[in-house]
Amino acid sequence: MPNFFHSIRLGSGLAIGLAAAFFASAGLAQSSDATGAEATAEAGAGDGAIPFALPQSGPFTPAEIDIGNNKAISDWFRSAHANAASEAFSHWDGEDEVRAACATCHSGEGFRDFHGLDGTPAGVVDGPINVGGVVDCGTCHNAGLAQVSEITLPSGVVHPVQGVEASCLTCHQGRAAGIDVEQATANMALDEPSAELGFINPHYATAAATWLGGYGAAGYQYEGHDYTGRFFHARPVASCNSCHEPHTLEVEFEACRTCHEEDSPEAIRVARQSYDGSGDTSVGIHSDIEANAEMLMDMIRAYTDEVVGAPVIYDAARYPYFFADANGDGAIDMGDGRPVPYSSWTPRSLRTAFNWKLVTADPGNYAHNPEYSLELLYDSIADLSEALGIDMEGLGLLR
Ligand code: HEC
Ligand code: HEC
Ligand code: HEC
Ligand code: HEC
Ligand code: HEC
Repeated sequence: MPNFFHSIRLGSGLAIGLAAAFFASAGLAQSSDATGAEATAEAGAGDGAIPFALPQSGPFTPAEIDIGNNKAISDWFRSAHANAASEAFSHWDGEDEVRAACATCHSGEGFRDFHGLDGTPAGVVDGPINVGGVVDCGTCHNAGLAQVSEITLPSGVVHPVQGVEASCLTCHQGRAAGIDVEQATANMALDEPSAELGFINPHYATAAATWLGGYGAAGYQYEGHDYTGRFFHARPVASCNSCHEPHTLEVEFEACRTCHEEDSPEAIRVARQSYDGSGDTSVGIHSDIEANAEMLMDMIRAYTDEVVGAPVIYDAARYPYFFADANGDGAIDMGDGRPVPYSSWTPRSLRTAFNWKLVTADPGNYAHNPEYSLELLYDSIADLSEALGIDMEGLGLLR
C-alpha cells in the first residue's frame, strides 16, 4: 500500500504520511455514522497531533501495518477530493492562507471552520485557513455535521439538510444565483450595454444548484414562468450518495440498471418528446440539453454581434471566460499583452450567459435535474429570439 505513505499537506501545514493524515483528520471515532464503530482513531479533526500511524513496537515493514478502513482511504485517495495538485486546491499556493470567502469549499479545515465544527462560531470562516487542504475524511465524517440542519444557498433560500448531505450541498451549491444578475441589472435598459456590468460566474461543479431546481433558484428565472423544483427522481435515488460512491465519487451505474435499460448514464432517456427540435428520442436526455446549450451559445454570439454590435468570444480555459472582439475578427482582443474581458454586457446577454454557464458548469445536469436545465435554456433562447426577431415556434424546441 505504498500510496498511503505518499506525502500530502494537511491543514496543519505539516507534510506527513497519508495514513497519518487519515488518523489525524478523520475524526472517525466521533462520527455519528455507523462508520464510527470501525474507527480506532482518537484524534479530533484538525489537531494533527499524530505524526505517523506506526505500531507501538517494532520491528515491522510498511506492508505489515494494518491500516483500518483501507478501502475507503484508497478509494478517496484516487478521487478528485484528494487531489491536492488540482487547481481547486492549489489555487492559493504561495499565499499565506486560503481566503475566508473561498475556504469553506476549498479545504476541509475551512469547511469545519464555516460550520463551527472546530469550536468557532458557525456561519463564518474565522481563519486563518492553511493552504494545501483537500476534502479530507473529517469533512464528511464529523459528529458535528449531524447538528448542521440547514444551509443557505446563493439565492438566499434556506434549505434543510440531513447528515452527510450537508457536506455535498455546502460545497456544490455554486457561488452566485439569478438574483445576483437581477440586482446587477436592475433598472437598466434591456439591450443597452453597460460598462458597469461584468460577467457573473455561477462557479463550478454546481450539482446541488441544478438538483434543487426552481426551488433552489440558482438560475436566472424569468418572471411569470414556472420552474421545476428539486428533482426527486425515484425512490431510492434520493440523495447525492445514492448515485455517487462517496469516496471514489464515481456514479455506480449498475444500480441505475434496475430501472434504466441504457448502457451509460448519458444514454438514459425517459422523456418521450424531443426538446431540441431534432425529433430524435433514441438518444439520452443529455443530448437534448447539450444541443440546446449549444444553440443558446450561438444565439448569445448572434445577439452580441447583431443587436449590441460588440461581439463576444467565449474561452472555456480562461477566467472570466467571455472576452471582447471589438473588430469582429474572431480573435480575442489583447490589451497590455492580456486578453480583454468582455465589457459590453446588456441585461439580456448577461442573464442568458449566466444561465448558459450555470447549466454547463454541471456535467451531470441531465441526471441532476434535466427539466430545470431544459427550462433555463429554453427561456434564455426565447429571450434572445425576441431581440433577434427569430420565430421561436420555427425552432421546434420544447420547454
Ligand atoms: C460554495 C463553495 C465554493 C466557494 C465558496 C468557492 N468555491 Fe471555488 N470551487 C468550488 C467547487 C466545488 C469547485 C470544483 C470544480 C471542479 O473542478 O470540479 C471549485 C473550483 C474552483 C476553481 C478551479 C476552477 C477550474 O477551472 O478548475 C477555482 C480557481 C476556484 N474554485 C476559485 C475560488 C475562489 C477564488 C473562491 C473565493 C473567492 C472560491 N473558489 C470559492 C466551490 C466553491
Ligand atoms: C465527501 C464525503 C466523504 C469523505 C471525504 C470521506 N467519506 Fe467515508 N463515507 C462517506 C459516506 C457518505 C459514507 C457512507 C456510505 C454508505 O452509507 O454507503 C462513508 C462511509 C465510510 C466508511 C464505511 C465503509 C464504507 O466504505 O462504506 C468508512 C470506513 C469511511 N467512510 C472512511 C473514510 C475515510 C478513512 C476517509 C478519508 C480517507 C473518508 N471516509 C472520506 C463520505 C465521505
Ligand atoms: C469541502 C467542500 C466539498 C465537499 C464537502 C464535497 N465536495 Fe465534492 N468537490 C469539491 C471540490 C473542490 C471538487 C473539485 C476537486 C478537484 O478538482 O480536484 C469536488 C469534486 C467532486 C466531484 C467531481 C469528481 C471528478 O472526478 O471531477 C464529485 C462527483 C463530487 N465532488 C461529489 C461530492 C459529493 C457526492 C459530496 C458529498 C458526499 C461532496 N462532493 C462533498 C468540494 C467538496
Ligand atoms: C441520479 C443520480 C445522481 C444523483 C442523485 C446525483 N448525481 Fe451527480 N452526477 C450523476 C451523473 C450521471 C453525472 C455525470 C457523470 C459523471 O460525471 O460521472 C454526475 C456528475 C456530477 C458531478 C460532476 C463530475 C465531473 O465529472 O465533473 C458532480 C460534482 C456531482 N455529480 C455532484 C453531485 C452532488 C453534490 C449531488 C447531490 C446534490 C449529486 N451529484 C447527485 C448522477 C447523479
Ligand atoms: C428506482 C428506479 C430508478 C433508479 C435506480 C434510477 N432511476 Fe433514473 N429515473 C427513474 C425515473 C422514474 C425517472 C423519471 C423521473 C421523472 O421524470 O420525474 C428517471 C429519470 C432519469 C433521468 C432523466 C431522463 C429524462 O428523460 O428526463 C436520468 C438522466 C436518470 N434517471 C439517470 C439515472 C442514473 C444515472 C441512475 C443511477 C445512478 C438512475 N437514474 C437510477 C428511475 C430510476
